[in-house]
Amino acid sequence: MLRALEQIRRMRGGAQSHLMRCDGGGYYVVKFQNNPQHTRVLVNELLGTRLAARLGLPTTPAAIISVSEDLIRLTPDLCMEMPRARIPCRAGLQFGSRYPGDPHRLTWLDFLPDKQLMEVENLHQFPGMLVFDKWTCNTNGRQTLFFREQQDGAEAESRYRAVMIDQGFCFNAGEWNFPDAPLRGLYARNRVYEGVTGRESFGPWIERLEKRITERVFDDLIGEIPPEWYDDDLDAVRRLAKQLYRRRTLVPELLLAARNTTRHPFPNWM
Ligand SMILES: Nc1ncnc2c1ncn2[C@@H]1O[C@H](COP(=O)(O)OP(=O)(O)O)[C@@H](O)[C@H]1O
Ligand SMILES: [Mg+2]
Repeated sequence: MLRALEQIRRMRGGAQSHLMRCDGGGYYVVKFQNNPQHTRVLVNELLGTRLAARLGLPTTPAAIISVSEDLIRLTPDLCMEMPRARIPCRAGLQFGSRYPGDPHRLTWLDFLPDKQLMEVENLHQFPGMLVFDKWTCNTNGRQTLFFREQQDGAEAESRYRAVMIDQGFCFNAGEWNFPDAPLRGLYARNRVYEGVTGRESFGPWIERLEKRITERVFDDLIGEIPPEWYDDDLDAVRRLAKQLYRRRTLVPELLLAARNTTRHPFPNWM
């Protein structure tokens, strides 16, 4: 667990997160328990990020961040802006997604134009992200961050790298059910799937899902989640884990359903 030391700024987005500097010198984008979406999105973030990392997908390191009553009192901007009120962020344990570097030296973007998108260093991981998003029924589409480190004095600029962020709507946000639909979970641009030539393109990811996600994995992960994030309803979390474990075998048919839509997300699938 880390401690938040200061708030840097408010981030965009429905959960009204804040960029914060934490002890140890790292910066984290912090989602609060009383975010306007649902307290459970913190569970989804932690569980989702850990599971994605287990599959070998690119994520930003996730952490549990403690934010004190004092810091909130001394920082008026640490609040939820609701239509008719400003509600202070709730103190206690929150979810943090590590900011990939020093905010002063790093270039990062939420979107890239198609041309630059094709040059992303790890584009081949997008099919793996889709396996993850189909499995977890991410009802918000895949969100990534593209970043590159500024290189002092170097003439050639380094290439962008994609990392997954925002696992908050996996398991259908606060609902913890799985309303599967063919277009769900796809990244907004088909170009990231140009390398897909058939079922076999997803094969290695599906194999990882079957081999690396055991029931034991869930036991360990659940133990890490602060109970206040799931309202002390351990049975509900266990049910969620059980469903996820069972759903692993559903992924191939969910991918096929996406393939057969008029959006044609996989232009090179023969
Ligand atoms: N680890 C991170 N590093 C840098 N920026 C981030 C990180 N996580 C989120 N962000 C930024 O904060 C915004 C909101 O985060 P996100 O997880 O998408 O929350 P929301 O649920 O509000 O959409 C993102 O659009 C992105 O720009
Ligand atoms: Mg988002």
